[in-house]
Amino acid sequence: MKQPKRYLVTSALPYANGPVHIGHLAGVYVPSDIYVRYLRGRGADVISICGSDEHGVPITIKAKKEGITPQDVVDKYHGIIKDAFRRFGISFDIYSRTSSPTHARTASDFFRKLYDQGDFIEQTTEQYYDPEAQQFLADRYITGTCPRCHSEGAYGDQCEKCGSTLSPTELIDPKSAITGATPVLKSTKHWFLPLDRYESFLREWILREHGSDNGGAHEVWKSNVYGQCKSWLDGGLLPRAVSRDLDWGIPVPVEGAEGKVLYVWFDAPIGYISATKDLFAEKGNPDGWKPYWQDNDTKLVHFIGKDNIVFHCIVFPSMLKAHGDFILPENVPANEFLNLENDKISTSRNWAVWLHEYLDEFPGKEDVLRYVLCANAPETKDNDFTWRDFQARNNNELVAIFGNFVNRALVLTHKYFAGKVPAVGNGGLTDYDRETLDEMPRIKAAIEQNIENYRFREALKEMMNLARLGNKYLADTEPWKVVKSDPDRVTTILNIALQITASLAIASEPFLPFTAEKLRNMLHLEAAQAHWDNIGCATLLAPGHELGEAVLLFEKIDDSVVEAQLRKLEETKAANAAANATAVPAKENTVQFDDFAKMDIRVSRVVAAEPVPKTKKLLKLTVDTGIDTRTIVSGIAEYFTPEEMVGKRVLVLVNLAPRTLKGIESQGMILMAESPTGQLSIVAPLSDEAASPAGSVVG
Ligand code: 2FM
Ligand code: ZN
Repeated sequence: MKQPKRYLVTSALPYANGPVHIGHLAGVYVPSDIYVRYLRGRGADVISICGSDEHGVPITIKAKKEGITPQDVVDKYHGIIKDAFRRFGISFDIYSRTSSPTHARTASDFFRKLYDQGDFIEQTTEQYYDPEAQQFLADRYITGTCPRCHSEGAYGDQCEKCGSTLSPTELIDPKSAITGATPVLKSTKHWFLPLDRYESFLREWILREHGSDNGGAHEVWKSNVYGQCKSWLDGGLLPRAVSRDLDWGIPVPVEGAEGKVLYVWFDAPIGYISATKDLFAEKGNPDGWKPYWQDNDTKLVHFIGKDNIVFHCIVFPSMLKAHGDFILPENVPANEFLNLENDKISTSRNWAVWLHEYLDEFPGKEDVLRYVLCANAPETKDNDFTWRDFQARNNNELVAIFGNFVNRALVLTHKYFAGKVPAVGNGGLTDYDRETLDEMPRIKAAIEQNIENYRFREALKEMMNLARLGNKYLADTEPWKVVKSDPDRVTTILNIALQITASLAIASEPFLPFTAEKLRNMLHLEAAQAHWDNIGCATLLAPGHELGEAVLLFEKIDDSVVEAQLRKLEETKAANAAANATAVPAKENTVQFDDFAKMDIRVSRVVAAEPVPKTKKLLKLTVDTGIDTRTIVSGIAEYFTPEEMVGKRVLVLVNLAPRTLKGIESQGMILMAESPTGQLSIVAPLSDEAASPAGSVVG
């Protein structure tokens, strides 16, 4: 788009049912904060909008579990999240919440306008209902086996294992998440947004205007975002229900909708608009929000994680289009996911680094985490956070390059020139000095290019190249050696080194705001001088300008710190394993210990195997159980050949009542494991043969 007059930047509203972790930060909030800080540095008119997403089923489930109200849940986490973002330097202009009165009004009016225009389909359909809890089971109130990947524990709206979007009636073996009961179907009325009606608009707007051959009129969307949109559009869009039978949410504002609320994904994105209204109301300018949402000269950018793409690129734009009074996003730079120590971040397994805990455990190291998360941001693929990498990036990059350069430049100036910026010496600039100074505008342009194209990792690298440039310049020119033989040369060297530190103070601000502030204070750099356009200026610090005291910007992180964090994760793993081992299964599946003790499971060895004639699935196995040699017929012929089975150590349930299969008496059962995708494998004894010879009892 042409140069916008103003920017409206939104960051996905986190659910207020838990604190935020490094995955959220790397995916959404660090990139969006870099973007808005950069724009502010350039003097652009920009506002950064966020807030808590306080509706939806996970919040009511949490409330039920903890015996508190949904309002208690959101009050608690809204406070924790808001405070953590502030302490971490995420510079939202407002951090609002969707339980605010402004939001209830805005979302309600939005729905009502679409309703009055006839944009919804009103339909009575059969939905799952929990007869015990006497409640309809929306979204996460229902779980079952995923029809796509067959893993258990998929939700009524999504399978977290394979990422598929689901509807409750697709689940295999559905169960109520409230009581565990098998739900029944019951009819209920809802309002649907007919997404199919917006398909041609979406095709034109996304696939043409934001595709790679759009002729430059609009920003080209990232390939992961574009690809997901294209596959949604190619798959054909269907009407989506925008109301739910719940008692937590914004009431559906029409007659005959008692007990029904707006679907959380209908109201949440409207939260961006409500928060903007609140921001300007706080400023005493209640209409000030309008140009940001209604003027085509505004550039609207939504920062989100990949699981939010469909809602921000298909559903919300269709709502905005239907409404008609609002602009559409120019870009939706969604990131992939961040893993932790090679494992998926998971709230339920507590496999995460929680921001509020990090802030408590690493005071003064906010920028280290910002740096590491940006350097590892999952921009084009899922990525991994490890504590070893955190330590290495801190020690080898922030301390050894950035901190070392700044410290040397300031300490030497204090030592040789009483803390005053020396002028370029009488000898003037050498070619090397000029080359060094010329590098700065190139780096500035590269940072800009990368930030404006949402490539924050590259932008960060370029910012560090500025520090590298200074570090190398001092290492090459060695002022501490030259000072004895040629003091005039040293005035030039330190003048140049200090000009680089001043540029670094400005260029690092979007990425490392706490460090940039310390550096500005050390350099006594006025706010007006810290304008983005001054990066690369060779005369930013005037000769004679007095510097402040040099303080250390970064400090080394010891192995013991990393080891403590790794231990903490090990403890989490152990706690999870213990919880799984002692977890009480659902009532009807509970096995009493006495029943379990009746089972005689023995380590055994397969001594012979042959196919059972006229069958595809059965093998006849001769098995040494340590107490005897017996025959077992096993349905594994599709997975293992007889040759593969001979010699295998297996676990056998030896006191299973015998059964005759195809005329052969089977005297026991080989224990097998079936993976979620239906893959069979043998449950083998864990220890070696010497430790658990045939006949060893399992239990
Ligand atoms: O995925 C989430 O965490 C959602 N709460 C994001 C909502 S973004 C917006 F639409 F509000
Ligand atoms: Zn699945």
